[in-house]
Amino acid sequence: MSRFDDSRPEMTVEEFRLLRDHVYSHCGILVHEDMKFVMERRLWPRLEALGLADFGAYHRYLRYDPQRHAELEAAVESLTTHETYFFREPSQLKAFCDELLPVLEKRNGRLKRLRLWSAGCSSGEEAYTLAMLLKDSHRFDDWDVEVYGTDISRRVLALARRAEYGPSALRATSADLLERFFVPAGNNRVRVRDEVRSWVSFGHHNLLDETGSQLVPRMDAVFCRNVMIYFDQAARRRVLRIVRDRLVPGGYLLLGHSENLLNLGADFELVHLRGDLVYRRPELPGLTGGEGR
Ligand SMILES: C[S@@+](CC[C@H](N)C(=O)[O-])C[C@H]1O[C@@H](n2cnc3c(N)ncnc32)[C@H](O)[C@@H]1O
Repeated sequence: MSRFDDSRPEMTVEEFRLLRDHVYSHCGILVHEDMKFVMERRLWPRLEALGLADFGAYHRYLRYDPQRHAELEAAVESLTTHETYFFREPSQLKAFCDELLPVLEKRNGRLKRLRLWSAGCSSGEEAYTLAMLLKDSHRFDDWDVEVYGTDISRRVLALARRAEYGPSALRATSADLLERFFVPAGNNRVRVRDEVRSWVSFGHHNLLDETGSQLVPRMDAVFCRNVMIYFDQAARRRVLRIVRDRLVPGGYLLLGHSENLLNLGADFELVHLRGDLVYRRPELPGLTGGEGR
């Protein structure tokens, strides 16, 4: 449908600001002023689905209608990017395997328990990738391992639980890994093997929700990659406070390659690995070996 189709209502600047602020305060995603047209285009189908005349009515619906929570999820869904694939950012994954997994194996060796979190996991590729790397390392074969994937979008979580993928999700997956960790699912698709799936679980979670975050167990490492790029500084700070709280002392935070904690005043230590820069929640003074759980 053309932008110049005048049967569709235009979003006024005031409506744009109201809707942008509402979305932002819910999930931290900040739609910039120059993206007003994109927001308008992506929300038009919602107005149509609800039979609303203009964006003012849509804003009122989001604020006061009994269905407002479900509709806010639909609005956020239409404004978020879920791009992801298996074995994304391989140099970071290699550094994780070569340099952090030995540390985690040693640190948790007594409890034989490992918890990883893919925070903003989209359709699950990152969480399954982590489980595959753990399997591949053979360091944790008889351990109690849990990889948690969480996302604000219930749609992508349903895809994650289904664990079936096509060529685009596998564009960085070698033939060898494909053979070892997937089974054919027909129609040029594959399914993640059960032995990998058994280490992974998915849950709905808004990274800005402090109360809900209390239900997330303490993690040995958190991958929060390519999620906060859509947030402003204030929302990043809130997420980082929550993530830090959910990490065991000495636990690691791994961000996407274009992200860092500069100017965020977050209480993390920078760790220089040979193959990457990662962050660590400082150890409690005098404690080592997972005692801070
Ligand atoms: C671009 S994907 C990144 C997926 C994966 N981490 C990766 O790097 O390949 C970003 C994901 O973050 C999720 N997201 C955005 N805001 C969120 C929030 N406030 N809480 C939880 N997830 C959020 C989106 O739904 C989306 O699936």
